[in-house]
Amino acid sequence: MPLIAWKEIYQTGIVALDKEHQGLVEQINRLSEAIREKRGDDVLGDILKVLAEYTESHFEHEERLMQEYGFPGLAEHQQKHQELRDSVQVMKARSEEATEGLAQELYRFLRGWLLEHIVEVDNKYGAYLESRGGRFIS
Ligand SMILES: [Fe+2]
Repeated sequence: MPLIAWKEIYQTGIVALDKEHQGLVEQINRLSEAIREKRGDDVLGDILKVLAEYTESHFEHEERLMQEYGFPGLAEHQQKHQELRDSVQVMKARSEEATEGLAQELYRFLRGWLLEHIVEVDNKYGAYLESRGGRFIS
């Protein structure tokens, strides 16, 4: 699994949020490297902890900006965030039981998060906010 380089396709166009998304990519790469070096289990707990915090702070940030700008897809987006939060919590709980295969599973989950949530779902508020002058909002 090659490391992920930040690409234009990942960009929402909202600078502050793109920066936070880059933080997620860093965690994916950190996990990927650890798996390659057969120490996936060593970083699993810490990455899940970082992700649990991330799903609070980053999602709140996105939702606040969507709200401030009256983004019409807010409720639907919040639902998607809740699903991601729940998945992280489930994995966190599972990691306290048994970690067999979990690092690989987490890696696939995070790739899906990047490609399905950031590229598909976050892109929608990106275009909306950007068209309303929101590029440099924080
Ligand atoms: Fe989002």
